[in-house]
Amino acid sequence: METVKIGILGLGTVGGGTVNVLQRNADDISRRVGCNIQVVAAAVRDLSGDRICPTDGIDLTDKPQDIINRADVDIVVELIGGDSLAKELVLAAIANGKHVVTANKALIAKYGNEIFAAADKKGVCVAYEAAIAGGIPIVKAMREGLTANKVAWLAGIINGTGNFILTEMRDKGRDFADVLAEAQALGYAEADPEFDVEGIDAAHKLTILASLAFGMPLSFDKCYTEGITKITQQDVTYAEELGYRIKHLGLAVRGESGIELRVHPTLIPEKRLIANVDGVMNAVLVKADAVGPTLYYGPGAGAEPTASAVIADVVDIARTLDGNVEHRVPALAFKTESITEQTVLTSADFETAYYLRLTTEDRPGVMADVTKILADQAISIEAIIQKEPNEDQDATIIMLTHRVIESNMEKAIAELKSQPFLKGDVTRIRVEHLNA
Ligand code: NDP
Ligand code: HSE
Repeated sequence: METVKIGILGLGTVGGGTVNVLQRNADDISRRVGCNIQVVAAAVRDLSGDRICPTDGIDLTDKPQDIINRADVDIVVELIGGDSLAKELVLAAIANGKHVVTANKALIAKYGNEIFAAADKKGVCVAYEAAIAGGIPIVKAMREGLTANKVAWLAGIINGTGNFILTEMRDKGRDFADVLAEAQALGYAEADPEFDVEGIDAAHKLTILASLAFGMPLSFDKCYTEGITKITQQDVTYAEELGYRIKHLGLAVRGESGIELRVHPTLIPEKRLIANVDGVMNAVLVKADAVGPTLYYGPGAGAEPTASAVIADVVDIARTLDGNVEHRVPALAFKTESITEQTVLTSADFETAYYLRLTTEDRPGVMADVTKILADQAISIEAIIQKEPNEDQDATIIMLTHRVIESNMEKAIAELKSQPFLKGDVTRIRVEHLNA
């Protein structure tokens, strides 16, 4: 049987998991692909470091360039992370005529347009299933399974670390920093965990999903991004009282005036399946015209779930090695020449419902003033709760609004903040009903 040889850049959580799964399931994988897949070489930073996988039979080097220069390597698997060295290595691998598999969403979201153009020119593939939602075959689904459809919108819980933190805080009342440390120990978090908790990692993934859905160039710079660090236990509890869960969501919505590309904490009705996706699990809900809504669920991070996606890409490439380049599935689902710029809206033009929490003096007329300020901006209230005043006689008001253009909400919040009755800030969390 023929052997396809791969060289891996990085043998950490995902690289180590990839070697382990390839070795354990070697027989089944060869029966599926019709050839053997062999890891011939791997690059690491520290040659004496501990590994989660066996390295016998693998040429280890601390010079990643050695891997991409090896004549016997058919596919380079980039699992180093980051977007400087990784970019340099991936472009060099392509220039050397190597196919590339990567789990690096930062790299694809920021430099994918350039990388795919270079790969097209050279007639090689760059595959990135593991870059989005860990083990869920969402790229396969979007590029192939949904190919007949026009996608209206998609919404996803696409960061495992963030969802793990929110779930542990909600269910066990655990401290943010303590859960983040556990996510790091489990290998879920990015090298810089700010990427997870500030929404940057989710924005990388959403950028790629939007291009797959709408046939537009990767537009990471235009993605609105808010993380989970400002979510309080109080808001989690009030949301639950109102029948909602707070999830960190990525949304790509095709509207009449453009595309909304946004990542932020979101209240979702608790009856929605996606509101019940907990821990490190991810889910992507895609609303398309022919099939309707489809939901993809699975582990969003971790060594072997991510390895599952990496190996699926290796197998896909191995199957097409001697085929016609023209018949390959395009990197971003649409033929390169038909990818078109689209207007990506700024946050002022987003349309969404809101959860608002504010603390005010508890005196007659305040509620009337609050509702008038909202009404003046054409904001209609769906639900309102006023909590018992505290010992300082401050009242907490919680409101759910109907959908509104964000610039109107900004004006209303600015007006509320200028009122003498307001104590502290106005908390604002977007609400999505995800009616599919
Ligand atoms: P790790 O930090 O666990 O592994 C990185 C690997 O790269 C290590 O083996 C490290 O070597 C090696 N490396 C780093 N710099 C160099 C260098 N200059 N030269 C040679 N080798 C180097 O990261 P992960 O496995 O967690 O992540 C890898 C990629 O996969 C990232 O892009 C990440 O975003 C993505 N990803 C991660 C997921 C996860 O669950 N962890 C899930 C989906 C995607 P050494 O071991 O010697 O330090
Ligand atoms: N840090 C990422 C996450 C890894 O937690 O989702 C998977 O992309």
